[in-house]
Order: sequence, then C-alpha cells, then structure tokens
Amino acid sequence: PIVTDQRCATRELPPLALPPFHCCPPPSPSEPIPFAFPDPATTPLRTRRPAHAAAGDADHVAKYARAVALKKALPPLDPRSFHQQANIHCAYCTGAHRQAGRSDLGVEVHFSWLFFPFHRAYLYFFERIAAKLLGDPGFALPFWAWDVPEGMRIPDAFADEASPLYDAMREPAHAPPKLGDLDFSWGEEKNLTDDQQVLLNLRLMYKQMVSGARLPALFLGQPYRAGDEAMPGPGKLEWAPHNTMHVWTGDQSLFNVEDMGVYYSAGRDPIFYARNAHHANIDRLWEAWRRDIVGAGSGRGPDLDDPDMLDGDRLRYTYNAGADDDRPQPWLDPAARPPATPGVNPEGGRRLG
Ligand code: C2O
Repeated sequence: PIVTDQRCATRELPPLALPPFHCCPPPSPSEPIPFAFPDPATTPLRTRRPAHAAAGDADHVAKYARAVALKKALPPLDPRSFHQQANIHCAYCTGAHRQAGRSDLGVEVHFSWLFFPFHRAYLYFFERIAAKLLGDPGFALPFWAWDVPEGMRIPDAFADEASPLYDAMREPAHAPPKLGDLDFSWGEEKNLTDDQQVLLNLRLMYKQMVSGARLPALFLGQPYRAGDEAMPGPGKLEWAPHNTMHVWTGDQSLFNVEDMGVYYSAGRDPIFYARNAHHANIDRLWEAWRRDIVGAGSGRGPDLDDPDMLDGDRLRYTYNAGADDDRPQPWLDPAARPPATPGVNPEGGRRLG
C-alpha cells in the first residue's frame, strides 16, 4: 500500500491558481487515531438520497445546506471547517504529501485504482462531521444523480445564490435548466436538444458502466502501489462522467475552469461533496457496478483485495432506501444503447487531469 509521509507542503498548484494557496492541514495536537468501523449497534444506517427535486426530498438537501453553513462558519483552522475539508482534496492532488521514505514521489489519488476508495473515505468523514455538527446521527449526503434524466441538471438548491450550496465559480451557461453533458470536453458545447442530450448521456453511461468496464482494471483504474509513479491510468467512470462533469460544472472562462474543473479547487464547491453530491453519485455507481454488472446475482464483483472499504454496511451508509425505492438505472435500458452519436468523445474532459 501507499504510505503517506506525515509532512505536508503545498506544491504543484497549476499556473494561475486562485487563492488560497495553502492546502496542508493545520498542525495536529495529537497522533493520528487509527480508523475503527462505527458500531452497528449504536450507529444508524444512513441513507444517501438523490438531490434533484423530482426525488421529492427537499428536506434532505436543506439539511445538507445547513451542514455546509455550519462547516463554513467554523474558524478556518478548525480541521472540520469547510475550508480544511476542501483542502484535503487539494493536498492529495498537488503532491503536497509524499510517499513515506520517497520524497521524490507524490501521493496522488486520481488516475488509478486509488480513486474510488480515497473518495469513499473522504465522503465518509465529511458526512460524519456534518452529522455531528447538525446533531443528527442519521444525516446522510444527498447525491447528484446525473445518470438519470430527471437528475441531469445542477439540482436547484445548489443554484440558488442565497444558499450555502451555491458557488459563484461555476459556468453560468450551465446553470439549470441546462442539462449536464456527461461527455463534455472543455470548449466544446454540443448544443443538443434535451432529448438528444439525455440519450447521449444514457449511452455514455452504458458504455462506461457496462460494455467498456467488463474487467476490474477497466472500471477501477490501474494498480498504484508504494514506489509507483503517480497516475498510471484512470478507470472508465473516473474518466467520464467523473472528469467530464467536473469540467462541465466549472467556470469555462477561467484558465483552470475553477472551482470544479481542476483538482486543487474542486473541493471548494459544495456540489463536490453532494459532489459529495457529485462524488456520492460516483460512489453509488461503484456499488452498482459491483452488484448489478460484474457481480450480477452474486452480490459481489471482482474487486481490489482490501474488503473493508468495499462494505458500505460496515461504514453504516446505503443508497437504497428499501424495496419500494430501488433506484432506476435507465442507462441499462436497451433503448439507451449505441449506435454511436457523431461528435461524441467518450474520453473527453481535458482540463481535469
Ligand atoms: Cu478527487 Cu471528483 O475528484
């Protein structure tokens, strides 16, 4: 495994990065505490739900907005503050941490099989802190369900300028009701009708989740072990829609497409967390791929061999609110499958990475 040197120094920010420039954590008064799974006897199972209004759970999103407001109100040096939570992402994608004993090698959480487990753990703690600040142990993150037609726009609550979920550094032309382009490349607006965009998105989902991801390394990304150079290669879902929707969300007029379009600042947009909305959906699709696609019927697909981060139940969260609430996966519908659409670049997403 990759072991991280405890020292941290901000480096490798992109040219014309926007402040703040420092993304290392504040000094810790104590040694790191080893991770322990929550006790299932005392920890409720938390259900993450879609953020779009059609999913009918405004209350869930309103709670997330309160949690973000509480995090933003903490002093910036408080490790639970929104500022420090965003910094974690920055530090793990700008070489701020080095591999233990290898000061020449940075620790990088993108473009390898570290992508899914790192972001799962990141969301997990972000969610736990939110639950604690809200005084609501049952709190779970909403997710931005851009893989279903009703969820393909930025959920309304995130676009409301008065909401703590709003971020000014997003592309104004992509505010709702504009549909997300899961296949987006910087500088290439497709100008499709909504129906065309939905179909293209569903086809891309099928390709990234099913036809193009039959082997674990295709879905999860290339192996990345201690002593390896960073970024050996991303899995399908990381490339698109993950990267493409990062870039689609950020402000196209800025050099690095901040906030969402570039790693160092992506965590500054609350949609990252609900990105935990965006990332909660990535995490959910990992689960769906294991359960329904590679693991069809078995409940367990081929995987990395550390079982712990793979078990949402042990982390006490789920995306399934019960039998009556099975999430639709419209991209599994045969009507959503190829032929290819001209102009589609499934490997799109130029800035991020
Ligand atoms: Cu660490 Cu969505 O990227």
